[in-house]
Amino acid sequence: MKNTVTTFQQAKEKGEKLTMLTAYDYSMAKLIDEAGINSILVGDSLGNVMLGYEDTLSVTMEDMIHHGAAVARGAKNALVIIDMPFMSYQTSTYDALLNAGRLMKEGRANAVKLEGGTEVCPQIKAIVEAGIPVCAHIGLTPQSINAFGGFKVQGKTEDAAKKLIGDAKAVEEAGAFAVVLEGVPKKLADIITEKLVIPTIGIGAGNGCDGQVLVYQDMLGLFSDFTPKFVKRFADIGGIMKAAFAGYIDEVRSGAFPSKEHEYSMDDSVIEKLY
Ligand code: KIV
Repeated sequence: MKNTVTTFQQAKEKGEKLTMLTAYDYSMAKLIDEAGINSILVGDSLGNVMLGYEDTLSVTMEDMIHHGAAVARGAKNALVIIDMPFMSYQTSTYDALLNAGRLMKEGRANAVKLEGGTEVCPQIKAIVEAGIPVCAHIGLTPQSINAFGGFKVQGKTEDAAKKLIGDAKAVEEAGAFAVVLEGVPKKLADIITEKLVIPTIGIGAGNGCDGQVLVYQDMLGLFSDFTPKFVKRFADIGGIMKAAFAGYIDEVRSGAFPSKEHEYSMDDSVIEKLY
């Protein structure tokens, strides 16, 4: 059954954990969808894990639409959320609405996600009023990496924690159907989760959140540039792939591949006429 924003709300009410993973292409979306995930996030982390940038700031609307549409074609049951890239919504409510609309029309998203708290509430409100579900994202928001001075856990002081609680309440009031809490101490994430009616989706925020999200390359050992503390590696697919690539290289060099079973044949009487 197709997951919707109603699924998210019902899961919160019933105390059922929500599951989310990122994906950036058709084949991976299909695999994750078939595993039974609630939601696939086409994160702007694609800047890091797919495009090799050191942060998410260079990701464009065209990148998100291109990858988002591929994911949407592969995801039958998962709720597809596409990230709004840096500067596609911060500039004005008009830009936010226009770009959220493009992610829905051209990227075939079921919802969009944007980073920020109180300061982006006018944008959240306008997008929601246009009939587009919005997932908010607060805490360690990677698009603000330069303002934070690096990848630092957020909300550790009394003031910062109170600001995060205020942001969480504000995005809920603005109409967000869920909020991602990234890089937040577990106990603070627990308080926010308890105070909100909408579900919280944690990444580096402990197990008290209403759901969890991970970047699939991190949990499969496919990305080794850096591994945050909160990542659990569920399989070493990177290791398996490297061994397979090495096996291919060896067999091509030794002539073992391709073997008889991989060849096409033709009649010898035709071959004789070719000499
Ligand atoms: O871009 C992304 O993948 C994200 C998740 C890490 C939440 O925003």
